[in-house]
Parts: sequence; structure tokens; C-alpha cells
Amino acid sequence: MPDNRFPPGFLWGTATSAYQIEGATNEDGRGESIWDRFATTPGKTRNGETGDIACDHYHRYQTDIALMRELGANAYRFSIAWPRIIPSGTGAINEKGLDFYDRLVDALLESGIQPVPTLYHWDLPQPLEDRGGWTNRDTANAFAEYTHAVSCRLGDRVERWITHNEPWCASWLGYGYGEHAPGRHDRRDALAAAHTILLSHGRAMEVIRQTAPDAKVGITLDLYGVVPASREDDDLAAARFYDGYRNRWFLDAVFRGVYPPDVVEIFGDAVPAIEPGDMSLISRPIDFLGINYYSRHVVESGPDGQPFAQKPDNGQYTAIGWEVFPDALHDVLVRVQREYDPPAIFVTENGAAYLDTRTHDGAVRDPERWAYIERHLNAGAQAIAGGVKLEGYFAWSLLDNFEWARGYSNRFGLVYVDYPTLERIPKSSFSRYREFIARHKTTPLAASAS
Ligand code: FCB
Repeated sequence: MPDNRFPPGFLWGTATSAYQIEGATNEDGRGESIWDRFATTPGKTRNGETGDIACDHYHRYQTDIALMRELGANAYRFSIAWPRIIPSGTGAINEKGLDFYDRLVDALLESGIQPVPTLYHWDLPQPLEDRGGWTNRDTANAFAEYTHAVSCRLGDRVERWITHNEPWCASWLGYGYGEHAPGRHDRRDALAAAHTILLSHGRAMEVIRQTAPDAKVGITLDLYGVVPASREDDDLAAARFYDGYRNRWFLDAVFRGVYPPDVVEIFGDAVPAIEPGDMSLISRPIDFLGINYYSRHVVESGPDGQPFAQKPDNGQYTAIGWEVFPDALHDVLVRVQREYDPPAIFVTENGAAYLDTRTHDGAVRDPERWAYIERHLNAGAQAIAGGVKLEGYFAWSLLDNFEWARGYSNRFGLVYVDYPTLERIPKSSFSRYREFIARHKTTPLAASAS
């Protein structure tokens, strides 16, 4: 039976990021990133694991593109490693770094796969961190310089650009909670970093509008379904603040050019100075919003008065401890469309970690992962039926990979990576996703028909 729940031209893809899959950290002139530094600092990642080799995608990208072709994907979201392009953060451009992404983009296009690059997926050049990193407003200028180099080289072939991946994680996990690189623990630093990241998003949009005027540009936010644990006033207030500093902070800034006043009031003088023009730069109209969605958070007011995300007893959880709750994806999509009205939305990440193993016949069976993905696709289809302009879905991830501070312990791939040999073994979820794509993929409407 034909299934028309997804609009013509819908993008079906997978997502990855540079540091998590590329490896080759010392090759072809790549500079050091904050993740190289963090991962090699004792105690920061599980068992001291690093992205030095990761999936060796840098050398095996053709194999990986062949997998995407087999999947029937028509799009691929990857990220570009800033330290490969401008190893010192500013100044000299490393042509060999650009050459790699040039080859990658060409190989994708030859396979009928639309390249969707993200300019920043957390691998800041370490020399910039040495000068204050994202807490230094100059880093936004450096980002514009880097964006210029990349978009001049790839802009003739890239239709859609994503400036940043998950500014909340980059700022709060990196600068506020110390769980990610660069490992700082300061609320002021987190807020300053978030502001510079958003400024740099605005700067990058300006650059791409000049270098590639026909391209579409957006940003990817990590959005969470936030539910108060009870109707008690303190839980309601905790949930409102939680939603405020994780979701609304970024949505309001990008779409409305303001930070939410209720959250500003709580953060008080920890909020960095906002200079004239900042908020209009941040809120330049985007062409699409990327949403990464994994889970919902049930929030109560903790013993210290801070919001606390509890884990409901009757919940279903993935191996990383995140609750499986597809309805919240539907709710997030509907809410964003209703309250912020982006011209288009892509789910740029969604997926699940499970403890996959190879069985005696060499296969990897992961029915839970497919169940997770299918339920979320259904939630997306339901949102589309309700008027949400969802135009694509990217499963996280093509390959098992380096899951940041958790190292290689959490497998998110549709393809299993046997790390000692780097062999790729498509899991059963890969086949299910391939069948799903085959049932739903359509060709884009011709321009005259739209
Ligand atoms: C997201 C990140 C991505 C990956 C998934 C599991 O927050 O963007 O790199 O780690 O979580």
C-alpha cells in the first residue's frame, strides 16, 4: 500500500560528526582540537578513549558512502573539522583539509546523496581555546573566517549548510558542567560561550549568503520534551526554568532576537554583556531549523531547589539511560512550528544506543533500535499530518562511533563497527531502515509543479 505520509523530496539520511568517526587526527596538517586535548587528559573519557582512530572514516569514506547507497539514503549529514581547515584557528588555510571534504562531497554527489555539512560539531581548534575559546567574542570572527574558507571551496555543490550542532551541549556540557571539552565548570563561561556561539552562527549565515547565495542555511538545536513531574508550583517552576535554559534560550534568540526574560532574571549577572546589534545578528532569518531529539525529561524541583530530571520508574530506557518517548518528538515538532514557525524543519539526529553484539553467524540483530527509529518516524509523520513542515530525517548514526566522554561503550550505529579490525557490519536496523526508505522515498517535485 503506498504510504504518502512524508512529503515529496523528503530527505532520508544518516548523521555523523568529524571527531566521532574520522580518526587520522595527525594527518594532512590537521591541528589539535579541544577534543584531542580533553580526551588525552587523564580521567576525562571512559578508559581514556580518544578519537585518534575512531572509525577511520578519513581513509574509508568510500566504503561508508557505499553503505549509504545501499541504504538508499538521499542525504548525509556530516561535520567539517575546523582544525583540518585552519589548524591554528585563524590565519593559514590548510588546503589538504579542504581537499578531503571536496572529495567527500564529490563522492556523495556521484552516489546521488545530498551532502549536508555542519560547520561546528564541537571540535574547536585548541589554539582558540588557549585564547578563551567560545567565551571570547573574537572566536565568532574566527568562525566567520573558517566558514568563508569552507563555503568558498564547497559552496558550488552544497545546497544546505548547518552552522552549529547543539549549542546547548557545546556551551553547557563544555563550559558549564565540564563533562565535555574543554572541561570548564562555570555558569558564566557557559552563558558567555552560548552567546558567542550564537553570534558566530549569525556571522556564518552572513558569510554563506555572500559566498553561496542560493544555499539554504540553518542551525541544529538539541530540543527536549520537558514535562513537570507534578502540578505542584515548585515542580512547574523547575520545569519552566529547565525548558527555558535548554530550549527557549536558543529558540527565542534565533527566532525572536531575545533571551527569555524569565531565564535572564534567574541567571542575573551571569548573563554576558549583550552588545548593540548582537541579537539582530543572531536572529537573521534562517532557512530551516535542525532538531536533534532523543528523549524527554521529567523535571522536578530538586532538594537544592535546582531543576532535576528524574527517571520515571515505568519508563523504557536505552543503554545510555535515555528514556524512549516518541510522543515527545511529536510534541516538540508541533510546539516549534506553532510558536516559532521555521520555514522548514529537519530532524537532524535521532537514534538509540544499545549493547549490540555479533552472534555466532556474525550478524548483529538490534530490533530495539529499529523499534525506536520507527516509532519516532511515525511521530514525525503524525506531526506532518498536523501541519509541521518536516522535510527530512537523519538517523544518528550511520556507524557506531566515539560517543564523547562515554568513549566507544555506547553504540548508536545502523552499522556495527568492529573496532579492532574496523570492519563494518550492517545491523538488522540498517535493513529495516532501508526497507522503510524504499517504501517512502519519492523524487522531489519539479520546480514548475510546486
Ligand atoms: C548528540 C550529539 C551527537 C551524539 C548524540 C548521541 O547530542 O550531537 O554527536 O553524540 O548526541
